[in-house]
Amino acid sequence: MSTRILAVVVLLGAAAAAACESADAKAAKRSDELFQSFKARSFPGLPDSLTPEQAVALDKARSGPGGWFVETGCFACHSVKVYGVKSPSDMGPDLSLAQDDVEKRFGRKLEDFWHEPNGTMTMVRSQLIKLSPEEEALGLKKLREAYAEHLKESTAQAR
Ligand code: HEC
Repeated sequence: MSTRILAVVVLLGAAAAAACESADAKAAKRSDELFQSFKARSFPGLPDSLTPEQAVALDKARSGPGGWFVETGCFACHSVKVYGVKSPSDMGPDLSLAQDDVEKRFGRKLEDFWHEPNGTMTMVRSQLIKLSPEEEALGLKKLREAYAEHLKESTAQAR
């Protein structure tokens, strides 16, 4: 290979690496901003900052079907494993299972619990995340969809 071609190959490689790095850096920055906005709203139990890996993973999950759980701040305390949403605190249970789990934990249907929660979620909904009736309805839909997706994945795995 002539040195000129070699130089072009090396340059292209470096440019590709730089583009890749800056995409990750941008993703991490978006996540950091979101994360810090929840810290500023006094969400409890959060670390000072996300690790770069957590920040990039969160940005990916945010643009997928679990985006609502990220944008709304549920991820601060809950993972939604079926959508790759990973909570930095894992203070609450995996929301992929909530539709079934809430019946075991609280002896209530998800619909009733979500409309008028018990325990920690009473505080969350009255102080940290206030939802309009439309947002509340959307949240119920998202929780049901996550559980449906979980069921779909677990039957696919069992096959
Ligand atoms: C400050 C932390 C925190 C935030 C933020 C939070 N939750 Fe929770 N949530 C909890 C904890 C802790 C529990 C476990 C039950 C308890 O301790 O009362 C819980 C329980 C639940 C349950 C019942 C789950 C089960 O398996 O029984 C649902 C559903 C739920 N949360 C939905 C949400 C949604 C949706 C959001 C975002 C809009 C959210 N939570 C935000 C802490 C939080």
